[in-house]
Amino acid sequence: MTSGEDAVNEGAMQGKAVLVVGASAGIGRAFALAAARVGAAVVLSARRPDRLAEAVTTAGEAAGQPGRAEGIVADACDAGDCERLVREAVALVGPLDLVLYSAGSAPLRALVDTDADDWHGVLATNVVGANQVIRAAVGRMAPGGVVAVLSSEAAHIPRYGLGAYGASKAAMEASIRGWRNEHPGLRFASVVVGQTFPTEFGDGFEADVLAAAFEHWGRHGLLQSEFMTPEGVAGVLASTLATALAHPEVGVEDLVLRSPSAPVGPAPAPAGPVPGPATEAPEAGEPRKLSGEFSSGVRPPWVEPD
Ligand SMILES: NC(=O)c1ccc[n+]([C@@H]2O[C@H](COP(=O)([O-])OP(=O)(O)OC[C@H]3O[C@@H](n4cnc5c(N)ncnc54)[C@H](OP(=O)(O)O)[C@@H]3O)[C@@H](O)[C@H]2O)c1
Repeated sequence: MTSGEDAVNEGAMQGKAVLVVGASAGIGRAFALAAARVGAAVVLSARRPDRLAEAVTTAGEAAGQPGRAEGIVADACDAGDCERLVREAVALVGPLDLVLYSAGSAPLRALVDTDADDWHGVLATNVVGANQVIRAAVGRMAPGGVVAVLSSEAAHIPRYGLGAYGASKAAMEASIRGWRNEHPGLRFASVVVGQTFPTEFGDGFEADVLAAAFEHWGRHGLLQSEFMTPEGVAGVLASTLATALAHPEVGVEDLVLRSPSAPVGPAPAPAGPVPGPATEAPEAGEPRKLSGEFSSGVRPPWVEPD
């Protein structure tokens, strides 16, 4: 096939060697399943062996020909693990056509409450880990390979409670531009992902900080009335990256995946002092369809129980 013959070509994923870091849950898991379904040889990686085994089994059962799924337990915060992970992945499936770095973490804290351990943790996962995986992978990519990392709107627009996270994602995006500069021929993509649920990303968030954050985000027009699903995000990403694999002469640099829904309107006035400076409230968005809750049991204050 030559460029332009087939604009959307999920078949281009067939037989491709794909490594997904952060594949035991959320968007990474959904992406690994989607890639296996369209025939990729997928290596799934994460820290928790039980959750990883479940994802590998599910991806293997869903795999379309000649797709398959393998699992490697590794901690992206351990530089030795990153090197071993990529080496073992290549031994299993061959030179990598696609690496998706979906591992990510965030402390949800006001910056004044964000201590040195919080900073080290978020930078270790989102910046150092991503770079150590890429460092191990660049010499082991197939020609025309793609490395994609998941970033966040918080890298570009400050969000209450996610200052350290936003800084880490901004650093990750800057390092991706560095890789692109130093390794022409390979393709490096930053994918800004909007609010996606359900995933495990907010499982560690403290209920009171999350409630304050929802209130603040809503008041600043930063909370949309519908969240994307991990399956939806993964499906668009798998189709987009499959098409990119079919067109190695086209660079895919920055993608933004965000719910097209309207932002929710301002929350009812809170009883007590609210964190941060108030700005003009956005126009109320319709419809207000936000549903579900985080594991802490918190839901945005203007959302009715299901
Ligand atoms: N959900 C959202 O609304 C949203 C919005 C914007 C951007 N994002 C970004 O999208 C990515 C995926 O988010 P998600 O919501 O799918 O999160 P998630 O459900 O928490 O999944 C994160 C995955 O990363 C793995 N992981 C975490 N730390 C790791 C480490 N040190 N080494 C290896 N694996 C690690 C986790 O598995 P183990 O615990 O088993 O290691 C898990 O499989 C993240 O980079 C996040 O920043 C998410």
